[in-house]
Amino acid sequence: MTDRLAGDSGAAIHDAVREAYAERVVDGGSCCGSADPVSVAEQMGYSKEDIDAVGDGANLGLGCGAPLAMAAVSEGETVLDLGSGAGFDALISWRAVGPTGRVIGVDMTPEMIAKARENAERVGADNVEFREGLIEALPVEDESVDVVISNCVINLSPDKSTVFKEAYRVLRPGGRLAVSDIVLTKPLPPIVAKNLAAYVGCIAGAALMDDYLAMMRDAGFDEEPRVEMKSAFEVLGGDDPMVKAALDAIGGCCSGDAQPTASSTDCCSPAPQQPASSGCCGDDVPAGTSVADVAEEELDLSEAVNSIFSAQIVVTKR
Ligand SMILES: C[S@@+](CC[C@H](N)C(=O)[O-])C[C@H]1O[C@@H](n2cnc3c(N)ncnc32)[C@H](O)[C@@H]1O
Repeated sequence: MTDRLAGDSGAAIHDAVREAYAERVVDGGSCCGSADPVSVAEQMGYSKEDIDAVGDGANLGLGCGAPLAMAAVSEGETVLDLGSGAGFDALISWRAVGPTGRVIGVDMTPEMIAKARENAERVGADNVEFREGLIEALPVEDESVDVVISNCVINLSPDKSTVFKEAYRVLRPGGRLAVSDIVLTKPLPPIVAKNLAAYVGCIAGAALMDDYLAMMRDAGFDEEPRVEMKSAFEVLGGDDPMVKAALDAIGGCCSGDAQPTASSTDCCSPAPQQPASSGCCGDDVPAGTSVADVAEEELDLSEAVNSIFSAQIVVTKR
């Protein structure tokens, strides 16, 4: 299963992800995101000028690449940002499209939408709007967009095929989709793949690269994508809390240090629709098992970590 925690529980996944990212806006909690957003953004390919121009409030350090670096956005174009967060890429797009262009950000987390609107108002970006909605059911008209971008979001979707179909639907013919995302070169060990902390931390929901590209092709995008892949750690820095928090949470939850409840949706929550007693480790991993225990028995964590990549992909609607 590409979308490991999903099954029939797409809505539960959305709820868990929404709650985690709402928390991120309110108290800067450490789900998917980096410790030093400015230096990480520079490392990913953003210019200092862009970072400074949009201000701190928009860059929450939640991206895993720089989709705009490959999107070649021009003045006057309409850009749509899937999972726009606090508006970082949307506001940088706004600088590229100028007063004759238009930018739309879509995000399902109301707190993110409110923060993004505040950030747009602060810099006077009146041709940028943020719409609350799902990237699996975009609140955007058919063939109305020149460029769709997305930064570290599609891995969080329980229905990635539909996201790509939606991106295809809203693009004008000849339009392009530029994505930065976490992808895998081999399946994750079950202890990681079934962990909700790792899911909201942008790891457990990541698809295999081949599956990811196949879903793009099936949606109708061209057969020859432009692709760049780097180790997620090279891009984000070895100390990035995105992966660290996820792996720590696996140890914490599974060792019994944390006692998540079925209603809890922080980084240490049980997977949606699992009984509370199954903890966050899923059915295959008994509660009380720590990462260290698993590592001793069967898990080469470094091998798992080395299969996690940050991919930059650009495809075109024929
Ligand atoms: C890792 S953050 C990335 C935010 C932003 N792209 C950035 O780089 O700063 C993921 C964002 O995607 C949003 N999100 C996740 N899944 C979504 C979905 N299925 N539909 C809409 N928004 C979603 C979350 O609310 C969150 O704001």
